[in-house]
Amino acid sequence: MFIFELCAHLKLCILIYAPPNKLLDVRREQQLSYHVVFLLSACALPVPAHVNAAVGRIRGLIMMQNSYDHIAEQWHSNFRGQAYVDRTLGYVDKILEGLPSGAKVLDLGCGTGNPIAKHIVERGFRVVGVDQSKKLLEIAKTVVPEAELIHADMVEIQFAEKFAAAVAWDSVFHVERKHHSAIFHKLADSLESSGRLMLSVGGSDAEDSASDDSVTEGFTSEMFGHTFYYSGYAPKVARKLLEAEGFEIEVWEVDDPSSRGHIAVVARKSV
Ligand SMILES: C[S@@+](CC[C@H](N)C(=O)[O-])C[C@H]1O[C@@H](n2cnc3c(N)ncnc32)[C@H](O)[C@@H]1O
Repeated sequence: MFIFELCAHLKLCILIYAPPNKLLDVRREQQLSYHVVFLLSACALPVPAHVNAAVGRIRGLIMMQNSYDHIAEQWHSNFRGQAYVDRTLGYVDKILEGLPSGAKVLDLGCGTGNPIAKHIVERGFRVVGVDQSKKLLEIAKTVVPEAELIHADMVEIQFAEKFAAAVAWDSVFHVERKHHSAIFHKLADSLESSGRLMLSVGGSDAEDSASDDSVTEGFTSEMFGHTFYYSGYAPKVARKLLEAEGFEIEVWEVDDPSSRGHIAVVARKSV
C-alpha cells in the first residue's frame, strides 16, 4: 500500500515538474528554488507555506518568460495606434537630442525593435537591443537588422561598454521589483556622463515602501490568452530609486490618461 502511494505521489510530482527546457531561460536563483521544492515534494516532505508561495511566484515568472515567445507574432502584428507611437517616439527623441551621429544606444527589453529601436537606427544611431524572448529577437532581426541583438535577462547581463543613451520602455515592470534598483544602477553605470535614459514606471498598486520584498510584490495578467507577470513600486518610490542612482528627472508624466498611472520618464545621468 505504502509503495503504491509513493509511486502515485512520484508520478504526480513528475507530471507537475516543468520540463527542463522550460527552465533553461530562467535565472539560476529561480531554478535552484524550483529544484529544491520539487525534491521536497518528491520525498513527500511537508513544504512550508512561504516556500509554496515562492514556488507560485517562480511558476508565474516561468510562465511569463515563455509568454512573449508564445505571443510573438500576435504582439508584432498588433499595432498599438499612431497616437501611442508618436507619443513614445517623442520621448525617444528627447534622449537622442544632441548626440553625435553613430552614437550607441542601449534598448533594454527591446522586443521586436518596433517602433523604438527601428526609429533610433533611422535617426542615424546604433542600437544594442537586449531581450529575453528568443522569438521577439528573431522578429527584431528582420525589423532592425542593423542592431546588435543580445538574448539575455536584464537582471543578469553585464555591459563592458558605455552607451550614449538608454531605453527601458515597458520592460522593467516584468521583473520582480526587488531587482529594480540594481537594474537602475546598471543603467546608470552603463551610461556615459550626462547620457539620458527613457523608461516607464507605475501601473502598480504596490505599497509605498522600497524595502518591502514580500512575496506579494507582483501580479499576473492575461494577454492574448497567456499569463504575464508584473511587478513595481509606487511611482514616488521608483523616482527615489532612480534619483539615488544619480538620475536627474527631466520628464515625469502620465503619458496616457487611460493607462491608470503609466508614467513616462526621461532622466539624465547627473555625473
Ligand atoms: C511590453 S514588451 C515591450 C517591448 C519594447 N520595449 C516596446 O516598447 O515595444 C516587454 C519586453 O520586455 C522583455 N523582458 C521582460 N523581462 C525581461 C528580462 N528579465 N530581461 C530582458 N527582457 C525582458 C520582454 O521579452 C518583452 O520584449
